[in-house]
Amino acid sequence: MKINGQPFRTIWINDDGVLSVINQLTLPHAFEIVTLLDVDAVCDAISNMVVRGAGLIGATAGYGVWIAAKQAPTDSLESFDRYVKTQALRLQATRPTASNLAWAVNRQLSRLAAGGTIFEKIALAKAEAEAIADEDAKFCRQIGEHGLSLFENLSSLKPSKTINVLTHCNAGWLAFVDYGSALSPIYAAHDAGIPVHVWVDETRPRNQGASLTAWELASHAVPHSLIADNAGGHLMQHGMIDIVLTGADRITRNGDAANKIGTYLKALAAKDNGVPFYIAFPSSTIDFSLNNGLTQIPIEERSGDEVRKVIGKLADGTVAAVQICPDQTKARNWGFDVTPARLVTGLLCERGICPATEAGILGLFPEKA
Ligand code: MRU
Repeated sequence: MKINGQPFRTIWINDDGVLSVINQLTLPHAFEIVTLLDVDAVCDAISNMVVRGAGLIGATAGYGVWIAAKQAPTDSLESFDRYVKTQALRLQATRPTASNLAWAVNRQLSRLAAGGTIFEKIALAKAEAEAIADEDAKFCRQIGEHGLSLFENLSSLKPSKTINVLTHCNAGWLAFVDYGSALSPIYAAHDAGIPVHVWVDETRPRNQGASLTAWELASHAVPHSLIADNAGGHLMQHGMIDIVLTGADRITRNGDAANKIGTYLKALAAKDNGVPFYIAFPSSTIDFSLNNGLTQIPIEERSGDEVRKVIGKLADGTVAAVQICPDQTKARNWGFDVTPARLVTGLLCERGICPATEAGILGLFPEKA
């Protein structure tokens, strides 16, 4: 996507051969690029959410394995392999919920196994990291192409009228390598001239909606309004939302979806009000080994301080964290919840749109049957 006319991905190898990412901790107040020089830096960037979003943490971990290969001991193939495996496990443990992370690390380890020498393995790791990133961008672009049909259908029901979309968290290009999942069809519809307006949930506690989704949509000139997290149900009751479109961090083979905390409540409200509720993701988000999201998907619990405090810009322009509760109040902070498949109207991925059922998913991915 473009920032001030200049095309950017969220992660790339710069001209000096160094891994570079957009720092998502400083947005929307400052646009910063940071370089990740070693595996420690890559692990910190994922756990502290310098990079975040299912697709991007997968791509970052893919590059992380390449960095591990570059810094591994070279005295023997065995010690090289042992070091890379240890670092790969560290990368995999940085965040538990999104399946893209383990998927990318495992894909890298299988690829490296094909290399006969250390030199070959390092070259394979670099090529595979680039392939994972390129595929993520391609799949997200295809999600936009398929998802455009949803907007064309809605638009045919209310010609020339604005289509109002509700989204939660940030499933835009910042959460992937490019394009995004839930926001990709919105960009496609906007670019095709369909009038679109996005209701952006602020997405407490880390406010990815307010700080990232709003910034992305503003950069692409897509009309949007920020709303409090609890407003969506009210808007649905008053016919102010035509479709809910969110991303996902892990999809089970039966169509249950883990996504940012609060998504489940939006799905319940959508069901009660007859509003279509779609979930968009690339196939790297599907965990074909699971068939019950509620009992099987690990839900990340982060520091309670993210709930006790809010980060924002003060009147003097400085960015600071302010506490919003009494000093002695403790907080719990679950990062994700699971929306059962029965509440989901349809799933949207790079191969098309399907019902949120095992048959629907396997219809698009017959090789997984
Ligand atoms: O905690 P985050 O910001 O990494 O959460 C991931 C998300 O952005 C959302 O849950 C998103 O909707 C799915 S990932 C594209």
